[in-house]
Amino acid sequence: MADSLARRTIILRVDGENPESEKISVAAEIIRKGGLVAFPTETVYGLGADALNPNAVKGIYLAKMRPLDNPIIVHVANREDVYRLAAEVPRAAEKLMETFWPGPLTLVLKASNIVPRITTGGLDTVAIRMPRHKVALALIRVSERPIAAPSANLAGRPSPTLAEHVIRDLYGRIDAIIDAGPTNIGVESTVLDLTQDPPQILRPGGVTYEDLRDVLGRVSIHPAAASISEIHIRYARSPGMKHKHYAPRAEMVVVEGDLETIIRKVRDLAEQYTRAGRKVGILATDESMQKYSSGIVKSLGSRSNLAIAARNLFRLLREFDEEGVDVIIAEGVPEEGLGLAIMNRLRRAAGYNIIKAE
Ligand code: TXA
Ligand code: MG
Repeated sequence: MADSLARRTIILRVDGENPESEKISVAAEIIRKGGLVAFPTETVYGLGADALNPNAVKGIYLAKMRPLDNPIIVHVANREDVYRLAAEVPRAAEKLMETFWPGPLTLVLKASNIVPRITTGGLDTVAIRMPRHKVALALIRVSERPIAAPSANLAGRPSPTLAEHVIRDLYGRIDAIIDAGPTNIGVESTVLDLTQDPPQILRPGGVTYEDLRDVLGRVSIHPAAASISEIHIRYARSPGMKHKHYAPRAEMVVVEGDLETIIRKVRDLAEQYTRAGRKVGILATDESMQKYSSGIVKSLGSRSNLAIAARNLFRLLREFDEEGVDVIIAEGVPEEGLGLAIMNRLRRAAGYNIIKAE
């Protein structure tokens, strides 16, 4: 049966460093007409539409099968737009924009009345960020629209760090995909709520807690953002918190503790699952990967360079799925720097199926 959402998807291969202006114009024209364009940012690929066009934004929710109460980040290419989209821009926001923009920091501010309710998921706040990727910035500039863009995956799946991931999830459901190769950071932006005092991290991401604390002095972290169990919050500040997320098709477990005990526990589990006839994937690190003799072992990279681990994370989760793994056993990493964002994604990908190794 024909899918009523079916669209013809064009793929535009673009040079990430020197985006070809003809190709950007094609994509920008689609945005201006209310269409859907997937494009790279420095964090993950986004699925963009004109943030001020409610019908266009509705298309994002339909294409991703995203719950309508989950608001979408608005991407801008200049700071003036922030003053149009937000009703109030506190001094702290200005300081953060000066320090971290363009970059992986999203600011939640009181929304002005030009922002459609569908973009904010019905909230009276709007999340805004200026990405640090030439293709993303060019697309926003040439389309002359602020661009609403969630990650360009089907709702619930790992975020896309390659155009191939977008093709797999959304080909035939959107109008265009701009392919400029792998994204650099690999986890999404940090979402910081500036309508609270002190500002609160709703989602840890590419800008670390430590970085924010250095600039702001005081920053809090929403309990769900660093949680080791699912928190059922009736009023989730960030609706994204309460939805299933990042999930590979395989069952997944995260093993936490110090490295020696993690390795012992992962070995035990891998042997048990293998004996039970299940195909096992182990998400290890360079320091540990030689220690495993059963299962398909993939390394995030070195524990001493979590930037690389963040870059590899979502791709490796998707690779395990492609290889038909039944269960993924993932090693935990320390929750410092980017480790906080990595652990948030791993725990949620595992549906909070966490084992404390001891
Ligand atoms: O790096 C990123 O942030 C990527 C790229 C494409 O920019 N985008 C992204 O969007 O990850 P998405 O929709 O997958 O995640 C946005 C998160 C969700 O958890 C959503 O609930 C939260 O931000 N959010 C958006 N607007 C909000 C608001 N007004 N108040 C609180 N949380 C908000
Ligand atoms: Mg997402």
